[in-house]
Order: sequence, then C-alpha cells, then structure tokens
Amino acid sequence: MHLSTLLTGLTAIASISVPVTASPSNHEHNPYLFVPSCPRKTTATYTKSVPDKTPFPKTSVDLCYDKTSLHLTFKAYDEKYFYFDPEQGTNGDIWEYEVMEAFLYHGDNDPATYLEFEINPNNVTYQAFVYNPSKVRAKNAPFDHAFISTPAADGFSASTTLNKEKGTWFSDVVIPLALFNVDKPLGSRWRMNFLRTITSPEMYPDQELGAWSPPDEANFHITSKFGRVFFV
Ligand SMILES: *[C@@H]1O[C@H](CO)[C@@H](O)[C@H](O)[C@H]1NC(C)=O
Repeated sequence: MHLSTLLTGLTAIASISVPVTASPSNHEHNPYLFVPSCPRKTTATYTKSVPDKTPFPKTSVDLCYDKTSLHLTFKAYDEKYFYFDPEQGTNGDIWEYEVMEAFLYHGDNDPATYLEFEINPNNVTYQAFVYNPSKVRAKNAPFDHAFISTPAADGFSASTTLNKEKGTWFSDVVIPLALFNVDKPLGSRWRMNFLRTITSPEMYPDQELGAWSPPDEANFHITSKFGRVFFV
C-alpha cells in the first residue's frame, strides 16, 4: 500500500465521529511506562487514593526485566502501621490487612485473566491468576482465582526490609516471565496496575486504598484501568 493511500485511509478513520462516553473501555487517562532491561530500571510512583484521588502516602514500584523474570521493588513510604496477621501464610487472605500489589497481564487488551501478586510487611506473598470475565468484577458474574501453590519452586522470590523509624517498607520481588508465555521480553506489551492498602488495628477491616491507575470505585478489578507497559 502506498503511503498516500494509507494516510487517506487514516484520515478517513479519524474523521468518523465516535461518541465519547464514560464507558469502562475508555483508556484515555491510563498511565504508561517503558521498562528497561536490568540493571537499568524505571519507576512507577503514585500518590492518589482510590476512588477519590485524594492525597495518599507515596508508593512506588521499580521495574526491570531480564531473560526470564520481571523484577519489581515495591516501596511504601509514610507507613505507620506495618499491619498484618502473623497467622497468615503464602496465599492467605493477606489483602485484608496491608499489602502492596501488582496486577500483571501480557497483552494489549483489557484482560479477563491476569496475575494478582501481593506482598505484606511480613514478607508473605499471595499469587493467583484471577478469572474475571466481566472485567469489572460484576456482581453476578464469575470471579475466581487459580493459586500458584509453590511460588519459590516456580522462580518467584521475595525479600522485605522494614524501617519503622523512617516509615518505609521495601519489598524486592522476582516473577517468572514463563507464567505469561513471554520468551522474548524485549518489545513485549503489557497491562498492569499497582496498588497499596493501608489499615491499622483501629481501622480494620476498613482500608485506605491507593493505585498507580486509580479506578473510580473502591474495586481494583476494573481492567480497563490497567496502565500500559512496554518492555524496551
Ligand atoms: C522473604 O520470603 C522469601 C520467600 O518468599 C525468603 O526467601 C526470604 O528469605 C524472606 N525473608 C526476608 C527477610 O525477606
């Protein structure tokens, strides 16, 4: 096809008027990120609450990839409580307390299945593939989890450092790319979101929520809100 033909075609497409609605497939305001190979890294930082987008304690995630893994360093600042249930172990309901989370999907579209990874201040991890065919966790739709039962054997790793005086909680995490059928990470395209919950003995079971790409309701499972991530 000649460039001029292509341009004419694109102009024709651009001139079709599309009604602008607040439908859940509106990606216009989603953040995006370019992730380099390690040891270089990029950082996603967020300071907004879910759903009100009011100030939220600074939270960030450093990202880089190597041939086999995605490396994430979760960083919670202004952490006051470091609150978790010491009885909870791998894949327990750690999201009831304080966690930092990554929702990860290899692909471009709004996913119905994605990895939900969480870590708490006690270095306990939760890792499950979510099945969310409504893509918004609709009330009467299926919503299921397939847990990864032996994360360390599968190539996950985690390491957590708390500094109670400084109010910081850092967790270094490695997630295997084979989970996503990614053989060549360079050039791969992803949808991701990063999230943090805050609660305390006084607040529990209520939580403050924060997100890199905050949805408009207190529900992290609205996949049209996942940001766009490119491995470069
Ligand atoms: C955290 O958990 C991992 C296993 O997921 C373990 O290898 C590591 O030693 C633990 N400890 C710390 C301090 O992070």
